[in-house]
Amino acid sequence: MERRIPDGLVAALARAKCVVVFTGAGVSAESGIPTFRDAMSGLWARFDPMQLATPEAFMRDPVMVSRWYDERRLNCAACTPNPGHRALVLMEERLVAAGSEFTLLTQNVDRLHQAAGSRNVLELHGSIWEWRCCACGARREERGGPLGEYPPRCACGGIRRPGVVWFGEQLPGAVCAAADRALGECDLFFSIGTSAVVQPAAGFIHTAKKRGARTVEINRDPTPVSDLVDWSVMGKSGEILPELVDRAFKN
Ligand code: OAD
Repeated sequence: MERRIPDGLVAALARAKCVVVFTGAGVSAESGIPTFRDAMSGLWARFDPMQLATPEAFMRDPVMVSRWYDERRLNCAACTPNPGHRALVLMEERLVAAGSEFTLLTQNVDRLHQAAGSRNVLELHGSIWEWRCCACGARREERGGPLGEYPPRCACGGIRRPGVVWFGEQLPGAVCAAADRALGECDLFFSIGTSAVVQPAAGFIHTAKKRGARTVEINRDPTPVSDLVDWSVMGKSGEILPELVDRAFKN
């Protein structure tokens, strides 16, 4: 794992025809959003996120689970995109302007990529802003203050759940199909700010490698994929990405 950005990686990005970027919670850390595995602080310190982010947990204790998600939603509302998000917007703009393709696959539910201006974003784990009725399926985006009632209720009388994908649930089919298509064509694959342990997302790197893509990891810490990639750059995405994009597209 290197701390500096290798020249070969800069050149590969500058030449790439089809880039897939896969992001996780680490990309939003510098915006003030705790990573998934760091999220259990304060009142929630005694809980395991794996025990809250499941359909079983919601069925067992919808009050607690919906309150936890609403607190996380309100925390996201106070956060703005950081230089890492903005560098990915620039990466997309420069690649698309050059006739190349760019797809951003994210596990993040905060929509900060879209807030920064990223266009071709596929949300693998849904959105923390959208709540949906367990009875009638109606979806509504919640951008205001605390929902107040836990679990919140739909006009139909059903209870509403966060519009995220929980452990043990299927990823949205259309999103998976689009992700597969992008991975099948990419020549450069980035895994950024993700612990790379949750399937099927963790398998993306293998799909990209099989396809013959060069692979890159940018992470604060080593992960299970650090030894598999062509370039592993250790550091904060909000510092590495602006430098990488600047060097790749400076002309
Ligand atoms: P994690 O919380 O598992 O991992 C965050 C990763 O970001 C870790 O590898 C950190 O070392 C790294 N990191 C932290 N700060 C960083 C920074 N400033 N720059 C770069 N890297 C940094 O989050 P995810 O991998 O996104 O799923 O977790 C994936 C999924 O697991 C979540 O979407 C959630 C969770 O279980 C579900 O809820 C289904």
